[in-house]
Amino acid sequence: MVVAKSDSKLKPVNVGLLGLGTVGGGTVSVLRRNAQEIVRRAGRGIHITHAAAKQYDPAAFGGTDQMKITDDAFAVVNDPDVQIVVELIGGYSPARELVLQAIANGKHVVTANKALIARHGNEIFEAAQARGVTVAFEAAVAGGIPIIKALREGLAANQIEWVAGIINGTGNFILTEMAHKGRDFDDVLAEAQVLGYAEADPTFDVEGIDAAHKLTIIGSIAFGIPLQFDKTYTEGISRITRADVNYAAGFGYAIKHLGVARQTSEGVELRVHPTLIPEKRLIANVDGVMNAVLVQGDAVGPTLYYGAGAGSEPTASAVIADIVDVVRALTTDPKNRIPHLAFQPDELSDHPVLPMEEVVTAYYLRMRVKDVPGVVAGIAGILGDSGISIEAMQQKEPEAGDTDVPVVMLTQRVKEGRMNRAIQQIEALESVCGQVARIRVEHLAG
Ligand code: HSE
Repeated sequence: MVVAKSDSKLKPVNVGLLGLGTVGGGTVSVLRRNAQEIVRRAGRGIHITHAAAKQYDPAAFGGTDQMKITDDAFAVVNDPDVQIVVELIGGYSPARELVLQAIANGKHVVTANKALIARHGNEIFEAAQARGVTVAFEAAVAGGIPIIKALREGLAANQIEWVAGIINGTGNFILTEMAHKGRDFDDVLAEAQVLGYAEADPTFDVEGIDAAHKLTIIGSIAFGIPLQFDKTYTEGISRITRADVNYAAGFGYAIKHLGVARQTSEGVELRVHPTLIPEKRLIANVDGVMNAVLVQGDAVGPTLYYGAGAGSEPTASAVIADIVDVVRALTTDPKNRIPHLAFQPDELSDHPVLPMEEVVTAYYLRMRVKDVPGVVAGIAGILGDSGISIEAMQQKEPEAGDTDVPVVMLTQRVKEGRMNRAIQQIEALESVCGQVARIRVEHLAG
Protein backbone atom coordinates (compact mmCIF):
# COMPACT_ATOMS: atom_id res chain seq x y z
CA MET A 1 0.00 0.00 0.00
CA VAL A 2 1.23 3.52 -0.76
CA VAL A 3 1.42 5.63 2.40
CA ALA A 4 0.53 9.29 1.91
CA LYS A 5 3.53 11.30 3.12
CA SER A 6 1.76 14.64 2.76
CA ASP A 7 -0.78 13.66 5.43
CA SER A 8 1.74 14.47 8.16
CA LYS A 9 2.65 17.96 6.84
CA LEU A 10 -0.66 19.82 7.02
CA LYS A 11 -3.58 19.42 9.36
CA PRO A 12 -6.58 17.65 7.80
CA VAL A 13 -9.36 19.83 6.44
CA ASN A 14 -12.67 19.65 8.32
CA VAL A 15 -15.76 19.21 6.21
CA GLY A 16 -19.37 19.74 7.29
CA LEU A 17 -21.86 17.64 5.38
CA LEU A 18 -25.50 18.64 4.91
CA GLY A 19 -27.53 15.55 3.97
CA LEU A 20 -26.80 11.86 4.46
CA GLY A 21 -29.10 10.49 1.77
CA THR A 22 -28.13 8.77 -1.49
CA VAL A 23 -25.31 11.18 -2.43
CA GLY A 24 -24.28 12.05 1.15
CA GLY A 25 -23.94 8.36 2.03
CA GLY A 26 -21.92 7.76 -1.14
CA THR A 27 -19.65 10.69 -0.29
CA VAL A 28 -18.91 9.30 3.18
CA SER A 29 -18.24 5.80 1.79
CA VAL A 30 -15.94 6.90 -1.05
CA LEU A 31 -14.00 9.38 1.12
CA ARG A 32 -13.33 6.57 3.60
CA ARG A 33 -12.56 3.88 1.05
CA ASN A 34 -10.16 6.02 -1.00
CA ALA A 35 -8.75 8.12 1.86
CA GLN A 36 -5.11 7.33 1.09
CA GLU A 37 -5.38 8.14 -2.61
CA ILE A 38 -7.31 11.32 -1.85
CA VAL A 39 -4.68 12.51 0.66
CA ARG A 40 -1.94 11.94 -1.93
CA ARG A 41 -3.90 14.07 -4.41
CA ALA A 42 -5.10 16.84 -2.09
CA GLY A 43 -1.91 17.14 -0.05
CA ARG A 44 -3.76 16.70 3.25
CA GLY A 45 -6.47 14.66 4.86
CA ILE A 46 -10.18 15.41 4.39
CA HIS A 47 -12.34 14.61 7.41
CA ILE A 48 -16.10 14.89 7.70
CA THR A 49 -16.34 16.14 11.25
CA HIS A 50 -19.95 17.34 11.44
CA ALA A 51 -23.00 16.22 9.49
CA ALA A 52 -26.67 17.17 9.47
CA ALA A 53 -29.46 14.80 8.53
CA LYS A 54 -33.09 14.37 9.45
CA GLN A 55 -32.95 10.66 8.68
CA TYR A 56 -30.09 8.39 7.71
CA ASP A 57 -29.01 4.78 7.72
CA PRO A 58 -25.47 4.49 9.20
CA ALA A 59 -25.22 0.90 7.99
CA ALA A 60 -25.45 2.16 4.39
CA PHE A 61 -22.05 3.86 4.60
CA GLY A 62 -20.21 2.08 7.41
CA GLY A 63 -21.14 4.07 10.50
CA THR A 64 -20.90 7.62 11.82
CA ASP A 65 -18.38 7.11 14.64
CA GLN A 66 -15.95 9.81 13.48
CA MET A 67 -18.46 12.63 12.99
CA LYS A 68 -20.90 14.62 15.06
CA ILE A 69 -24.44 14.23 13.76
CA THR A 70 -27.19 16.76 14.21
CA ASP A 71 -30.60 17.42 12.71
CA ASP A 72 -29.83 21.16 12.62
CA ALA A 73 -28.11 22.04 9.33
CA PHE A 74 -27.37 25.60 10.56
CA ALA A 75 -25.34 24.12 13.44
CA VAL A 76 -22.97 22.63 10.82
CA VAL A 77 -22.83 25.84 8.78
CA ASN A 78 -22.05 27.86 11.93
CA ASP A 79 -19.52 25.36 13.35
CA PRO A 80 -16.22 27.34 13.62
CA ASP A 81 -14.19 24.15 13.09
CA VAL A 82 -15.75 23.43 9.68
CA GLN A 83 -13.81 24.85 6.70
CA ILE A 84 -15.81 23.42 3.79
CA VAL A 85 -19.59 22.92 3.76
CA VAL A 86 -20.91 20.25 1.41
CA GLU A 87 -24.59 20.86 0.62
CA LEU A 88 -26.42 17.70 -0.47
CA ILE A 89 -29.91 18.53 0.73
CA GLY A 90 -31.24 19.69 -2.65
CA GLY A 91 -34.10 22.06 -3.44
CA TYR A 92 -34.23 25.84 -3.22
CA SER A 93 -34.90 26.44 0.46
CA PRO A 94 -33.36 26.10 3.03
CA ALA A 95 -30.40 25.22 0.75
CA ARG A 96 -30.10 28.85 -0.40
CA GLU A 97 -30.10 30.23 3.14
CA LEU A 98 -27.60 27.58 4.32
CA VAL A 99 -25.20 28.24 1.46
CA LEU A 100 -25.39 32.02 1.88
CA GLN A 101 -24.79 31.61 5.63
CA ALA A 102 -21.79 29.35 5.01
CA ILE A 103 -20.35 31.96 2.62
CA ALA A 104 -21.00 34.76 5.13
CA ASN A 105 -19.09 32.64 7.68
CA GLY A 106 -16.13 32.50 5.27
CA LYS A 107 -16.53 28.81 4.43
CA HIS A 108 -16.07 27.28 1.00
CA VAL A 109 -19.06 25.39 -0.37
CA VAL A 110 -19.41 22.28 -2.50
CA THR A 111 -22.91 21.53 -3.75
CA ALA A 112 -24.65 19.00 -6.00
CA ASN A 113 -27.73 21.22 -6.09
CA LYS A 114 -28.52 22.11 -9.71
CA ALA A 115 -31.84 23.74 -8.84
CA LEU A 116 -30.09 26.06 -6.39
CA ILE A 117 -27.30 27.03 -8.80
CA ALA A 118 -29.62 27.46 -11.80
CA ARG A 119 -32.02 29.74 -9.91
CA HIS A 120 -29.86 31.46 -7.30
CA GLY A 121 -26.33 30.98 -8.66
CA ASN A 122 -25.85 34.64 -9.70
CA GLU A 123 -26.59 35.80 -6.15
CA ILE A 124 -24.53 33.00 -4.56
CA PHE A 125 -21.46 33.56 -6.76
CA GLU A 126 -21.57 37.31 -6.14
CA ALA A 127 -21.62 36.70 -2.37
CA ALA A 128 -18.80 34.12 -2.65
CA GLN A 129 -16.70 36.45 -4.77
CA ALA A 130 -17.13 39.29 -2.24
CA ARG A 131 -16.16 36.97 0.66
CA GLY A 132 -13.21 35.38 -1.20
CA VAL A 133 -14.56 31.83 -1.02
CA THR A 134 -15.31 29.21 -3.67
CA VAL A 135 -18.63 27.55 -4.48
CA ALA A 136 -17.97 24.35 -6.45
CA PHE A 137 -20.79 22.51 -8.23
CA GLU A 138 -19.40 19.79 -10.53
CA ALA A 139 -21.92 17.25 -9.20
CA ALA A 140 -24.82 19.51 -10.16
CA VAL A 141 -24.52 18.61 -13.87
CA ALA A 142 -24.40 15.10 -15.35
CA GLY A 143 -23.54 13.29 -12.09
CA GLY A 144 -20.09 11.76 -12.26
CA ILE A 145 -19.06 13.24 -15.63
CA PRO A 146 -16.57 16.09 -15.09
CA ILE A 147 -18.32 18.30 -17.63
CA ILE A 148 -18.00 21.53 -15.65
CA LYS A 149 -14.25 21.08 -15.45
CA ALA A 150 -14.05 20.16 -19.14
CA LEU A 151 -16.00 23.23 -20.26
CA ARG A 152 -14.46 25.65 -17.79
CA GLU A 153 -10.83 24.53 -17.98
CA GLY A 154 -10.12 21.88 -20.62
CA LEU A 155 -11.86 23.80 -23.42
CA ALA A 156 -10.85 27.31 -22.30
CA ALA A 157 -9.13 28.01 -25.65
CA ASN A 158 -12.31 27.55 -27.65
CA GLN A 159 -15.31 29.48 -28.76
CA ILE A 160 -17.96 26.97 -27.82
CA GLU A 161 -20.42 26.76 -30.71
CA TRP A 162 -22.97 24.41 -29.20
CA VAL A 163 -23.50 21.82 -26.51
CA ALA A 164 -26.05 19.00 -26.69
CA GLY A 165 -26.51 16.65 -23.78
CA ILE A 166 -28.51 13.79 -22.38
CA ILE A 167 -28.47 15.23 -18.88
CA ASN A 168 -31.31 13.51 -17.06
CA GLY A 169 -30.63 9.87 -16.26
CA THR A 170 -34.19 9.09 -15.23
CA GLY A 171 -35.62 10.39 -18.50
CA ASN A 172 -33.04 8.50 -20.54
CA PHE A 173 -33.74 5.33 -18.56
CA ILE A 174 -37.48 5.67 -19.30
CA LEU A 175 -37.00 6.33 -23.04
CA THR A 176 -34.51 3.46 -23.35
CA GLU A 177 -36.75 0.93 -21.62
CA MET A 178 -39.75 2.07 -23.72
CA ALA A 179 -37.75 1.77 -26.95
CA HIS A 180 -35.91 -1.50 -26.28
CA LYS A 181 -38.27 -3.45 -24.02
CA GLY A 182 -41.66 -1.96 -24.82
CA ARG A 183 -42.18 -1.17 -21.12
CA ASP A 184 -44.73 1.35 -19.87
CA PHE A 185 -43.69 4.83 -18.80
CA ASP A 186 -45.03 4.62 -15.20
CA ASP A 187 -43.51 1.22 -14.56
CA VAL A 188 -40.00 2.40 -15.56
CA LEU A 189 -40.35 5.64 -13.56
CA ALA A 190 -41.22 3.64 -10.43
CA GLU A 191 -38.05 1.57 -10.92
CA ALA A 192 -35.93 4.76 -11.32
CA GLN A 193 -37.33 6.00 -8.01
CA VAL A 194 -36.41 2.76 -6.22
CA LEU A 195 -32.89 2.93 -7.71
CA GLY A 196 -32.41 6.47 -6.32
CA TYR A 197 -32.08 8.14 -9.75
CA ALA A 198 -35.27 10.19 -9.71
CA GLU A 199 -35.70 13.58 -8.05
CA ALA A 200 -37.77 13.88 -4.86
CA ASP A 201 -40.50 15.22 -7.17
CA PRO A 202 -40.18 13.01 -10.28
CA THR A 203 -42.07 15.52 -12.43
CA PHE A 204 -38.76 17.43 -12.35
CA ASP A 205 -37.30 14.51 -14.33
CA VAL A 206 -40.14 13.74 -16.74
CA GLU A 207 -41.17 17.34 -17.43
CA GLY A 208 -37.60 18.43 -18.14
CA ILE A 209 -37.12 20.79 -15.18
CA ASP A 210 -34.09 18.91 -13.83
CA ALA A 211 -32.48 18.92 -17.29
CA ALA A 212 -33.30 22.64 -17.67
CA HIS A 213 -31.52 23.39 -14.38
CA LYS A 214 -28.43 21.60 -15.70
CA LEU A 215 -28.63 23.15 -19.17
CA THR A 216 -28.90 26.64 -17.67
CA ILE A 217 -25.58 26.01 -15.91
CA ILE A 218 -23.96 24.52 -19.01
CA GLY A 219 -25.09 27.47 -21.15
CA SER A 220 -23.62 30.03 -18.75
CA ILE A 221 -20.28 28.27 -18.54
CA ALA A 222 -20.09 27.61 -22.27
CA PHE A 223 -20.94 31.16 -23.40
CA GLY A 224 -20.12 33.38 -20.41
CA ILE A 225 -23.65 34.62 -19.78
CA PRO A 226 -25.43 34.99 -16.40
CA LEU A 227 -27.58 32.08 -15.22
CA GLN A 228 -31.09 32.51 -16.72
CA PHE A 229 -33.19 29.51 -15.77
CA ASP A 230 -36.45 31.37 -16.43
CA LYS A 231 -35.50 31.80 -20.10
CA THR A 232 -34.59 28.14 -20.68
CA TYR A 233 -37.26 26.46 -22.80
CA THR A 234 -38.43 23.30 -21.03
CA GLU A 235 -40.39 20.40 -22.48
CA GLY A 236 -40.50 16.89 -20.98
CA ILE A 237 -40.92 13.37 -22.32
CA SER A 238 -44.39 12.63 -21.03
CA ARG A 239 -46.04 13.04 -24.46
CA ILE A 240 -43.66 10.68 -26.31
CA THR A 241 -45.45 7.51 -27.39
CA ARG A 242 -44.10 4.11 -28.33
CA ALA A 243 -45.42 4.80 -31.85
CA ASP A 244 -43.15 7.88 -32.08
CA VAL A 245 -40.17 5.80 -30.99
CA ASN A 246 -40.98 3.22 -33.68
CA TYR A 247 -41.64 5.74 -36.48
CA ALA A 248 -38.42 7.58 -35.62
CA ALA A 249 -36.51 4.30 -35.84
CA GLY A 250 -38.09 3.73 -39.26
CA PHE A 251 -36.52 7.00 -40.44
CA GLY A 252 -33.14 6.02 -38.87
CA TYR A 253 -33.42 8.18 -35.74
CA ALA A 254 -33.49 7.64 -31.98
CA ILE A 255 -35.55 9.86 -29.67
CA LYS A 256 -33.53 11.32 -26.81
CA HIS A 257 -34.36 13.98 -24.25
CA LEU A 258 -31.73 16.60 -25.08
CA GLY A 259 -30.58 19.84 -23.58
CA VAL A 260 -29.26 22.09 -26.35
CA ALA A 261 -27.28 25.30 -25.84
CA ARG A 262 -26.23 27.06 -29.03
CA GLN A 263 -24.54 30.37 -29.71
CA THR A 264 -25.94 32.23 -32.74
CA SER A 265 -25.36 35.77 -33.97
CA GLU A 266 -28.90 36.72 -32.83
CA GLY A 267 -28.64 35.19 -29.37
CA VAL A 268 -28.18 32.06 -27.31
CA GLU A 269 -30.51 29.07 -27.58
CA LEU A 270 -31.21 27.31 -24.27
CA ARG A 271 -33.72 24.52 -24.78
CA VAL A 272 -34.65 21.14 -23.34
CA HIS A 273 -36.98 18.88 -25.31
CA PRO A 274 -37.35 15.40 -26.80
CA THR A 275 -35.25 15.27 -29.97
CA LEU A 276 -34.78 12.94 -32.92
CA ILE A 277 -31.05 12.25 -33.45
CA PRO A 278 -29.59 10.17 -36.30
CA GLU A 279 -28.98 6.66 -34.95
CA LYS A 280 -25.43 6.73 -36.30
CA ARG A 281 -24.36 9.43 -33.81
CA LEU A 282 -22.59 8.03 -30.73
CA ILE A 283 -24.84 10.07 -28.46
CA ALA A 284 -27.94 8.43 -29.93
CA ASN A 285 -26.67 5.14 -28.48
CA VAL A 286 -26.32 6.38 -24.90
CA ASP A 287 -28.83 4.27 -23.03
CA GLY A 288 -30.27 3.69 -19.58
CA VAL A 289 -29.34 6.04 -16.76
CA MET A 290 -26.13 7.07 -18.53
CA ASN A 291 -25.61 10.71 -19.51
CA ALA A 292 -23.53 12.15 -22.34
CA VAL A 293 -22.63 15.67 -23.34
CA LEU A 294 -21.42 16.56 -26.83
CA VAL A 295 -19.52 19.85 -27.09
CA GLN A 296 -18.59 21.56 -30.35
CA GLY A 297 -15.66 23.95 -29.98
CA ASP A 298 -14.21 25.98 -32.86
CA ALA A 299 -10.66 24.75 -32.26
CA VAL A 300 -11.11 21.27 -30.83
CA GLY A 301 -14.12 20.23 -32.95
CA PRO A 302 -16.60 17.82 -31.36
CA THR A 303 -15.78 16.18 -28.00
CA LEU A 304 -18.06 13.74 -26.18
CA TYR A 305 -18.24 13.11 -22.43
CA TYR A 306 -20.03 9.98 -21.23
CA GLY A 307 -20.78 8.44 -17.84
CA ALA A 308 -23.23 7.84 -15.05
CA GLY A 309 -25.48 10.87 -14.64
CA ALA A 310 -27.03 9.89 -11.33
CA GLY A 311 -26.62 7.51 -8.44
CA SER A 312 -24.81 7.46 -5.13
CA GLU A 313 -21.11 6.92 -5.85
CA PRO A 314 -20.95 8.46 -9.35
CA THR A 315 -22.33 11.71 -7.92
CA ALA A 316 -20.09 11.37 -4.85
CA SER A 317 -17.14 11.09 -7.25
CA ALA A 318 -17.88 14.62 -8.51
CA VAL A 319 -18.55 15.97 -5.01
CA ILE A 320 -15.21 14.68 -3.73
CA ALA A 321 -13.33 15.97 -6.78
CA ASP A 322 -14.69 19.41 -5.92
CA ILE A 323 -13.60 19.03 -2.28
CA VAL A 324 -10.10 18.10 -3.46
CA ASP A 325 -10.03 21.16 -5.77
CA VAL A 326 -11.13 23.44 -2.93
CA VAL A 327 -8.52 21.94 -0.56
CA ARG A 328 -5.75 22.45 -3.13
CA ALA A 329 -6.79 26.10 -3.56
CA LEU A 330 -7.15 26.93 0.16
CA THR A 331 -3.88 28.78 0.29
CA THR A 332 -4.22 30.60 -3.05
CA ASP A 333 -5.17 34.22 -3.63
CA PRO A 334 -8.98 34.32 -4.13
CA LYS A 335 -8.52 36.73 -7.07
CA ASN A 336 -6.57 34.09 -8.98
CA ARG A 337 -9.05 31.23 -8.59
CA ILE A 338 -10.97 29.81 -11.52
CA PRO A 339 -14.10 31.98 -12.03
CA HIS A 340 -17.35 30.26 -11.04
CA LEU A 341 -18.89 30.67 -14.50
CA ALA A 342 -15.62 30.16 -16.42
CA PHE A 343 -15.44 33.81 -17.52
CA GLN A 344 -14.29 36.64 -15.24
CA PRO A 345 -17.37 37.97 -13.39
CA ASP A 346 -17.06 41.44 -14.98
CA GLU A 347 -16.72 39.86 -18.44
CA LEU A 348 -20.12 38.12 -18.56
CA SER A 349 -21.98 39.01 -21.75
CA ASP A 350 -25.55 40.29 -22.15
CA HIS A 351 -26.10 38.33 -25.39
CA PRO A 352 -29.86 37.62 -25.18
CA VAL A 353 -31.45 34.19 -24.77
CA LEU A 354 -33.54 33.62 -27.91
CA PRO A 355 -37.29 33.06 -27.54
CA MET A 356 -38.29 29.62 -28.85
CA GLU A 357 -40.19 31.16 -31.79
CA GLU A 358 -36.82 32.36 -33.14
CA VAL A 359 -35.05 28.99 -32.85
CA VAL A 360 -34.35 27.10 -36.09
CA THR A 361 -34.60 23.27 -36.16
CA ALA A 362 -35.87 20.48 -38.35
CA TYR A 363 -39.08 18.69 -37.28
CA TYR A 364 -40.75 15.31 -37.06
CA LEU A 365 -44.54 15.64 -37.41
CA ARG A 366 -47.13 12.96 -36.67
CA MET A 367 -50.84 13.32 -37.31
CA ARG A 368 -53.91 11.22 -37.95
CA VAL A 369 -55.79 12.02 -41.14
CA LYS A 370 -59.02 10.82 -42.76
CA ASP A 371 -58.40 8.09 -45.30
CA VAL A 372 -59.75 10.12 -48.28
CA PRO A 373 -58.10 11.40 -51.50
CA GLY A 374 -56.20 14.71 -51.43
CA VAL A 375 -55.49 14.87 -47.68
CA VAL A 376 -51.72 14.60 -47.92
CA ALA A 377 -51.67 17.07 -50.82
CA GLY A 378 -53.51 19.59 -48.60
CA ILE A 379 -50.95 19.20 -45.81
CA ALA A 380 -48.03 19.39 -48.22
CA GLY A 381 -49.61 22.54 -49.72
CA ILE A 382 -49.70 24.30 -46.33
CA LEU A 383 -46.09 23.37 -45.62
CA GLY A 384 -45.01 24.43 -49.14
CA ASP A 385 -46.83 27.79 -48.86
CA SER A 386 -45.03 28.30 -45.53
CA GLY A 387 -41.65 27.69 -47.18
CA ILE A 388 -41.20 24.42 -45.25
CA SER A 389 -39.62 21.61 -47.21
CA ILE A 390 -40.60 17.98 -46.54
CA GLU A 391 -37.55 15.72 -46.21
CA ALA A 392 -39.29 12.33 -45.83
CA MET A 393 -42.82 11.05 -45.33
CA GLN A 394 -44.60 7.79 -44.43
CA GLN A 395 -48.30 7.08 -44.58
CA LYS A 396 -49.38 3.85 -42.91
CA GLU A 397 -52.15 1.60 -44.16
CA PRO A 398 -55.36 1.80 -42.12
CA GLU A 399 -55.91 -1.06 -39.69
CA ALA A 400 -59.12 -3.05 -40.15
CA GLY A 401 -62.10 -0.87 -39.17
CA ASP A 402 -60.09 2.38 -38.94
CA THR A 403 -61.30 5.39 -40.94
CA ASP A 404 -58.20 7.45 -40.24
CA VAL A 405 -54.52 6.72 -40.76
CA PRO A 406 -51.27 7.98 -39.31
CA VAL A 407 -49.00 10.21 -41.41
CA VAL A 408 -45.49 10.95 -40.21
CA MET A 409 -42.96 13.26 -41.85
CA LEU A 410 -39.60 14.92 -41.42
CA THR A 411 -39.08 18.51 -42.52
CA GLN A 412 -36.04 20.62 -43.22
CA ARG A 413 -34.90 23.32 -40.81
CA VAL A 414 -37.27 26.23 -40.23
CA LYS A 415 -37.92 28.88 -37.58
CA GLU A 416 -40.18 27.57 -34.84
CA GLY A 417 -42.61 30.50 -35.22
CA ARG A 418 -43.19 29.63 -38.86
CA MET A 419 -43.70 25.94 -38.02
CA ASN A 420 -46.20 26.86 -35.27
CA ARG A 421 -48.31 28.82 -37.76
CA ALA A 422 -48.22 25.96 -40.31
CA ILE A 423 -49.25 23.42 -37.64
CA GLN A 424 -52.21 25.63 -36.67
CA GLN A 425 -53.37 25.63 -40.31
CA ILE A 426 -52.91 21.86 -40.63
CA GLU A 427 -54.89 21.22 -37.43
CA ALA A 428 -57.70 23.41 -38.82
CA LEU A 429 -58.11 21.12 -41.86
CA GLU A 430 -61.31 19.09 -41.69
CA SER A 431 -59.42 15.99 -42.86
CA VAL A 432 -56.92 16.14 -39.98
CA CYS A 433 -58.05 14.47 -36.75
CA GLY A 434 -56.89 16.02 -33.50
CA GLN A 435 -53.55 17.61 -32.83
CA VAL A 436 -50.28 17.35 -34.73
CA ALA A 437 -47.51 15.82 -32.57
CA ARG A 438 -44.19 17.61 -33.17
CA ILE A 439 -40.68 16.59 -32.11
CA ARG A 440 -37.63 18.64 -33.01
CA VAL A 441 -34.80 17.03 -34.99
CA GLU A 442 -31.08 17.73 -34.51
CA HIS A 443 -28.41 16.28 -36.76
CA LEU A 444 -25.53 17.22 -34.42
CA ALA A 445 -23.04 17.28 -37.25
CA GLY A 446 -19.70 18.82 -36.31
N1 HSE B 1 -32.81 12.94 -11.17
C1 HSE B 1 -31.54 13.21 -11.76
C2 HSE B 1 -31.39 12.33 -13.00
C3 HSE B 1 -30.45 12.92 -10.77
O1 HSE B 1 -32.17 11.39 -13.15
O2 HSE B 1 -30.53 12.59 -13.81
C4 HSE B 1 -29.12 13.47 -11.15
O3 HSE B 1 -29.14 14.86 -11.26
